[in-house]
Amino acid sequence: MEPYRYHAFVCTQEKGEGVPCCAAAGSFTVLNALHRELGAKALAEEVQVSSCGCLGVCDSGPVMVVYPEGDWYTKLTPNDVGEIVSSHFQRGEKVARLLRTDYEAMKAEMVDHHHRYLAMLQGKDAAGVLPDDVNEMIRGFMPSRATLTALELDVFTAIGEGGTAKQIAGKIQAAVRATEMLLNALVSLNLLEKRDGVYTNAPVAARFFAEGTADSARRAQLHTVNMWKRWSTLTDAVRAGTTVAPKPDNGSVEPFIAAMDHNARGRARAVAQAVEVTGARQMLDLGGGSGAYSIAFAKAAPGLHSEIVDAPEVLALANDYVRKAGLADRISTRAGDMLSVPLEAGKYDLVLLAAICHMFSSEENKQLIERAYAALAPKGRLVISDFVLEADKTAPRFAALFALNMLVGTRAGSSYSEPEYAAWLKEAGFAESKRVRMPGPANLMIATK
Ligand SMILES: C[S@@+](CC[C@H](N)C(=O)[O-])C[C@H]1O[C@@H](n2cnc3c(N)ncnc32)[C@H](O)[C@@H]1O
Ligand code: FES
Repeated sequence: MEPYRYHAFVCTQEKGEGVPCCAAAGSFTVLNALHRELGAKALAEEVQVSSCGCLGVCDSGPVMVVYPEGDWYTKLTPNDVGEIVSSHFQRGEKVARLLRTDYEAMKAEMVDHHHRYLAMLQGKDAAGVLPDDVNEMIRGFMPSRATLTALELDVFTAIGEGGTAKQIAGKIQAAVRATEMLLNALVSLNLLEKRDGVYTNAPVAARFFAEGTADSARRAQLHTVNMWKRWSTLTDAVRAGTTVAPKPDNGSVEPFIAAMDHNARGRARAVAQAVEVTGARQMLDLGGGSGAYSIAFAKAAPGLHSEIVDAPEVLALANDYVRKAGLADRISTRAGDMLSVPLEAGKYDLVLLAAICHMFSSEENKQLIERAYAALAPKGRLVISDFVLEADKTAPRFAALFALNMLVGTRAGSSYSEPEYAAWLKEAGFAESKRVRMPGPANLMIATK
């Protein structure tokens, strides 16, 4: 007995440029349409949909195989999906015009495709051509740049319920020709869908990239637009050994804090759990940003009072986040430079440095950790959350690349390794420290006084 009435496998395999594959033939738009139609017909719990790798008939993509009977639908378009859902999945009547049943011919096609694909790979290798995956990595900026430009121009909000290139160009006040190119590229990235010349947001873009939705990350992603500008100075920064980018203007604070809040919101509760904050009473959140960690910690520990130290322009935003969380009576804010602001000795049982150490040099971090030690009560704990490198600093990849993010954006910041953190903590006098690995790119270093 199957747990579902039907199980549909939709091939979403991507292959090298110029090689026929389902992804290039538009399988993601088919997959999106399938989820949408099943949802609309209340069949999502009866029909399991799985995206899968190559099914062998790559010249006939997008391909979908439906079990338990093993029916092969090929050359699908989003326009076919409604008929398959209402006919095959709802009434049990297969859509004959879209089915392939010439199994012998299909088998021959699979073998032929496999041989041609292997021959192509061998041919490329023999010719000394850059492998596709390396090429793709080098050109990785293209999808990123297209998406960032769309976010900057607020394309996803302009699309709303859908529109033609001309209508959308009018709304974003851009050239029609260029807007159409951008929209088509976004369709190829599965961020938009296009039917009869009308563009609509794919579910992920509708949820995260349009303004005004509950989960909109557009403002946070405008911080990535600013990162892009700094990353384009990387070559000169490597020569100079420090940032050469112009100082960020005031307009960058709001997207920066929105981005920090977005990152922190997804993990702050898990960090509070990992740190076991329940009994903590006095917390110091140095460079607390939006206050996302203070908020999550205060929610997890009913007796906790947290004090956020940050720049005045950031505190204006933090106060807003704290007020909205209904925690203004337990989370206070103080303007100051964390490297020099007076800190009461022995007051706190928890000091948090979340996404802070990478902004500073080794010397500044030593100083900061010493200040945290002095501010902690006996048995108090310092929690550092950051992108912690392995000892030789080449992994994890995110932390190694993030070191460059700090090179282009700060005077002396970087990513640091676990042995570096451990040494600073020991030198400051902490009795013990441990690394706690968390899901996602950041880890914790927890040290006890
Ligand atoms: C990368 S954000 C991290 C924010 C927050 N801890 C989080 O994880 O979401 C760094 C924060 O430190 C603040 N900051 C940077 N230098 C500072 C300094 N010298 N003194 C106080 N705050 C500082 C910034 O304004 C920003 O809010
Ligand atoms: S890529 Fe889909 S069948 Fe081969």
